Amino acid sequence: MKICVIGAGYVGLVTGTCLADAGNTVWCADIDQDKIDMLNGGNTPIFEPGLEPMIVENVRRGNQFFTTDLQKAISNSEICFISVGTPMGEDGSADLQYVLSAAESIGKFMTRHMYVVDKSTVPVGTADLVRRRVQDQLVMRGSNLTFDVISNPEFLKEGAAINDWTHPDRVVIGTDSQDAVDVMKALYKPFLLKTENFIVMDIKSAEMTKYAANAMLATKISFINEIANICERVGADIKMVRKGIGSDSRIGYSFIYPGCGYGGSCFPKDVQALINTARQFNYEPRLLQSVEDVNAHQKHVLADKVKARFGDDLNGRMFAVWGLAFKPETDDMREAPSITIINELTAAGAKIIAYDAKAEHEARICYLKGNENVAYVDSKYAAVRDADALLLITEWKEFRSPDFDELVKLMKHPVIFDGRNQYDPIITGKYGFELYQIGV
Ligand SMILES: NC(=O)c1ccc[n+]([C@@H]2O[C@H](COP(=O)([O-])OP(=O)(O)OC[C@H]3O[C@@H](n4cnc5c(N)ncnc54)[C@H](O)[C@@H]3O)[C@@H](O)[C@H]2O)c1
Repeated sequence: MKICVIGAGYVGLVTGTCLADAGNTVWCADIDQDKIDMLNGGNTPIFEPGLEPMIVENVRRGNQFFTTDLQKAISNSEICFISVGTPMGEDGSADLQYVLSAAESIGKFMTRHMYVVDKSTVPVGTADLVRRRVQDQLVMRGSNLTFDVISNPEFLKEGAAINDWTHPDRVVIGTDSQDAVDVMKALYKPFLLKTENFIVMDIKSAEMTKYAANAMLATKISFINEIANICERVGADIKMVRKGIGSDSRIGYSFIYPGCGYGGSCFPKDVQALINTARQFNYEPRLLQSVEDVNAHQKHVLADKVKARFGDDLNGRMFAVWGLAFKPETDDMREAPSITIINELTAAGAKIIAYDAKAEHEARICYLKGNENVAYVDSKYAAVRDADALLLITEWKEFRSPDFDELVKLMKHPVIFDGRNQYDPIITGKYGFELYQIGV
């Protein structure tokens, strides 16, 4: 099939690449000239394991293209995915300007019947707005071309996006057209050979499904963080409690790891957007608001522990930070707990030596830009030299089994704040470390 994907970010680029890998002809269109230049120059603008070699192969075969020319991309396609950002607006609602601008372009440039597939995460009712935008453009052109609007929320996880996309737990399709169901089923067939979990529903339910999924996962994280905080106060160990509850098949082990709070491009904005939608419909979402409140508090827990150990005045202190990305296997730093923790420590006078092999660039150019008390190094051992303590914030694999002997030699004080409960206190204790963890 001939496909246009508008927005070549984490979702759009993965979507376009996986669809091209299955043999479709895919135009990835973005308004960001630098991103498109990079892609056309053979470089991938984001770090996502496995993505680059697939793009290289698709380009070599000649069925994946990158352009800022939306007219060319749309007019050559019969299916058009909208996968642009829906960031949090000032009032907490999803900012739909990019989605609606993409819809406008589709109406302007489509040359045949079009399946308009919304993959961006959007509030209930957005499909109607998209439909109106496309229709308005067609009316302005005096065109009687027809189109279907389909909601197809994306559930991929950054860091495992290729596998999630090509082996989805489920594909959700919201539409009122049987023809659209048939086309989407054919498009997704190569990726559903094992599960056949293709779920068709009305558009509003599909839009809601994405928010409900993210809100559920965020709730699990805030729940376990709250239990961890209680554990600390009563003298229980969250690691044991996690095992105790996770073994209950009704609860399960996934998403109940305590930590420094959730971040990323989705959970914070999506929970907030759902809260906003509920309020617009005169419902006060007490649980969701608490999920957010617990998370906001959790982002300060590690810095609070540092201050409890070293005092509120951190002038003259130097701390090593391992990991900046909001989770391992991605360079994404949107809403990452590292931002809150580092800013809090430097505001108290500390200097930070940070190491993250993939996210350093994002930190430098955007998320920690201007914070002159942060320096970056290119190895985990360089970060700890003369440090008063080490903070583990993102659990990249390379941090799992460090050479503790080497750490003791390099650090000023053998103190670790383990924000992801990665280390075994018995092992670190053998090397003389003071270890602070979450919920222990
Ligand atoms: N990142 C994730 O893990 C993830 C997972 C599931 C769903 N989502 C949702 O998918 C959507 C996209 O997320 P993302 O992380 O890929 O965002 P992103 O910021 O990485 O990418 C969005 C891209 O859209 C481009 N863009 C904006 N307006 C445009 C326009 N009018 N025409 C063409 N390009 C335009 C931007 O330049 C950018 O490159 C969001 O709604 C998000 O909530 C994201």
